[in-house]
Amino acid sequence: MNLSVQLAPGNAKGLLLANPVMTASGTFGYGIEYENLFDIQRLGAIVCKGTTLAPREGNPQPRIVETASGVLNSIGLQNIGVDALIAEKAPIWAGWRVPVIVNIAGETVDDYASLAKRLDGVAGISGLEVNISCPNIRAGGAEFGASPDTAAAVTAVVKKTTSLPIMVKLTPNTGDIVAVAVAVAGAGADAISLINTLKGMAIDIRTRRPILGNIYGGLSGPAVKPVALHMVYQVAGAVDVPVIGSVGIRTADDAIEFIMAGASAVQVGSANLTSPRAALDVLEGIERFMQDERIGDITELIGSAR
Ligand SMILES: Cc1cc2nc3c(=O)[nH]c(=O)nc-3n(C[C@H](O)[C@H](O)[C@H](O)COP(=O)(O)O)c2cc1C
Repeated sequence: MNLSVQLAPGNAKGLLLANPVMTASGTFGYGIEYENLFDIQRLGAIVCKGTTLAPREGNPQPRIVETASGVLNSIGLQNIGVDALIAEKAPIWAGWRVPVIVNIAGETVDDYASLAKRLDGVAGISGLEVNISCPNIRAGGAEFGASPDTAAAVTAVVKKTTSLPIMVKLTPNTGDIVAVAVAVAGAGADAISLINTLKGMAIDIRTRRPILGNIYGGLSGPAVKPVALHMVYQVAGAVDVPVIGSVGIRTADDAIEFIMAGASAVQVGSANLTSPRAALDVLEGIERFMQDERIGDITELIGSAR
């Protein structure tokens, strides 16, 4: 049975995954934290926490609220910064079989260029996920992903600065996600991942105050899955680069829906917060499904509902 997928066919380095199951940025740390819990080397790829030039402490607490079939988060890109990532995390990743993709976020276009430059050629890093979609930081983030022009500008700068494969992560908080996807693909993205979280909030009726310290955050989880699935279906039909689907993936069935909609790979996010080996369970479920359905190659499933 062949589960391997190529996520950067247009890039000289390529980004070949042994299988289509990835972890989503911000929900799996640097992967290292999970090494003793299960065999993380079996995963298709690990995407690390959103990384900025300088370390960030993130937003004030509380930063997570459970909602009906979902989770609101406003972590605000708490991270160790790119220098510590290169010094402390990448050398560990360099000894792994599973590819690690670094999720990068900036407040300006120059920030993205500097991050891409710093990370180019660092052993242990197989690709970049360009986060133009973080909904809960004050500057940058989702603002870049909201319009085709700014999304394309960030993509072009990163593409010019690095030889690493780049996937650009889109936000649903925009008028026309297909137009943004087409612009990003035209600007040189090797792949497109979608979606990031939907902006949302919750209020404590006893204190009469917003629950999140940041007032608003990003909603993900099963409640948003049909929205994400539809967007993946639309985008996969509009671009000719690989698409990576996420939001609401808890089980193999969820993942297979995204793959049938046109995703070449999937990202498991907040499911990791309740079950650390969720991504591996999803992978094993896909393998069982392929066995039951006598499918020899995962590519037979990609876009099969289209
Ligand atoms: C606690 C938390 C932190 C996140 N941090 C990031 C991040 O740093 N960068 C990013 O691009 N997405 C981040 N996300 C979004 C996820 O990578 C992913 O797009 C989304 O959560 C997938 O939906 P799911 O949680 O339903 O699986 C975060 C999500 C959560 C729940």
